[in-house]
Amino acid sequence: MTVNRRQFMQSAAAALLVPCMARAGFLSLEARVADQLIAPDGYPETKLWSYGGKVPGIPLRLKQGDRVQRRLVNNLPQPTSVHWHGIRIANAMDGVSGLTQAPVVPGDTFDYDFEVPDAGTYWYHAHNRSMEQVARGLYGPLIVEEATPPDVDQDLILMLDDWRLDPETAQITDDFDNGRDLSHAGRLGNLVTVNGSFDPAFPVKRNERLRLRLINASNARIFDVGLDGLSGWIVALDGMPLEAPLAIPQSFPLAPAQRADLVVDVSTDDDAANLLSVEQDGAYGLVQFNVTGELAKTRRDGVDALPPNPLPVLRDVETAPLHRMVLQGGAMRWLENARIGDTEMSGRELAQLGRFWALNGNAERPTDPFLDTGLGSLHRIEFVNETAFPHAMHLHGHHFRLILEDGSFGPWRDTVLVDRGQTRQIALLTDNPGDWLLHCHMLGHAASGMMSWIRVT
Ligand code: C2O
Ligand code: CU
Repeated sequence: MTVNRRQFMQSAAAALLVPCMARAGFLSLEARVADQLIAPDGYPETKLWSYGGKVPGIPLRLKQGDRVQRRLVNNLPQPTSVHWHGIRIANAMDGVSGLTQAPVVPGDTFDYDFEVPDAGTYWYHAHNRSMEQVARGLYGPLIVEEATPPDVDQDLILMLDDWRLDPETAQITDDFDNGRDLSHAGRLGNLVTVNGSFDPAFPVKRNERLRLRLINASNARIFDVGLDGLSGWIVALDGMPLEAPLAIPQSFPLAPAQRADLVVDVSTDDDAANLLSVEQDGAYGLVQFNVTGELAKTRRDGVDALPPNPLPVLRDVETAPLHRMVLQGGAMRWLENARIGDTEMSGRELAQLGRFWALNGNAERPTDPFLDTGLGSLHRIEFVNETAFPHAMHLHGHHFRLILEDGSFGPWRDTVLVDRGQTRQIALLTDNPGDWLLHCHMLGHAASGMMSWIRVT
């Protein structure tokens, strides 16, 4: 099949080449400005914010049960903190500026020290002014290997991002507070990269088996992922193994912050296979796998489920208390009014403050938690999306289980996509004490109202 390359803007730009000083050193996690070519060849390098001088940031790869000990060194011009997305972590290490820690000011450091209880594909990213800091590149992969990893020939991390660059200069546009973006789908970009590259390619052999760890680090873009010349299974979502591997459908959604682990075989007879972004006007290549030679005559047999993580058992979900969270506002369904703290404001007043969304009538993280509960209790949360846009709701410190229409359990997740007009239920066992954010991972939505939290004591 023919695969389109996404067009980056038309205009050429003067190349202003700044040498990129790669910096070794894995003991610290230095947040700093860097220059990197992320636009197509011929464009200048982009000035971005990084962990360790590159985007994606330093890849952290460890074994299940290991301990992460990293010193964040803030050499950025702005306070920051690091959130370890999807890790069932001790609350004090969760990295949420203004909730679990004070933001780390420029020149200062913070020591993160925690264990990783679950194997799987996770990531880390800035959690102060996330809408801006993640858009500038402050993210990296956090991979936790199973004690006995599955039998694959290559294990590849593919971190997707969507940048908004000035078409002349290839620099990140700093219109982060753009009300039109905030009130619509969020900050959608004009350049998609995988692993910080516009046009990534990997060498493979025919009938080779790959584990692809997809991570969507975009501010707002929901990818509809497809494959061409690769066949296989989804084996994990948001880090957590599926009980039974799922044959990869024609395409599947990957919302901001979500991950999917695929096990695929190179099944094409052509000289390339592709990971695709399926869009209204066709399929765009995200990653090219160049086939050179043959590993085997035929594909391997099926795939086993990954070993389960130590997740809780959920019993008697039908009788667990049900809490509704209504997602409100945004373009076409403008807020009539909502609260900031105890103050009720009109939609117009809120818009002037850059607030366009609300969760249960709160256009800012409320003083009281959405759920205040004891350790080890089971709850159902129902997300009711009354807006005209999809939202990717993320809970910190826990994974939860989707409850499907027929009442059965769906996969474990830490981020659930709730489509426009949709209602989705999750089951949550609050087995991790602390204050945990619950917010939309379209980061502009979070910044403009879709922010809540739960307290587990
Ligand atoms: Cu991945 Cu509160 O974030
Ligand atoms: Cu949202």
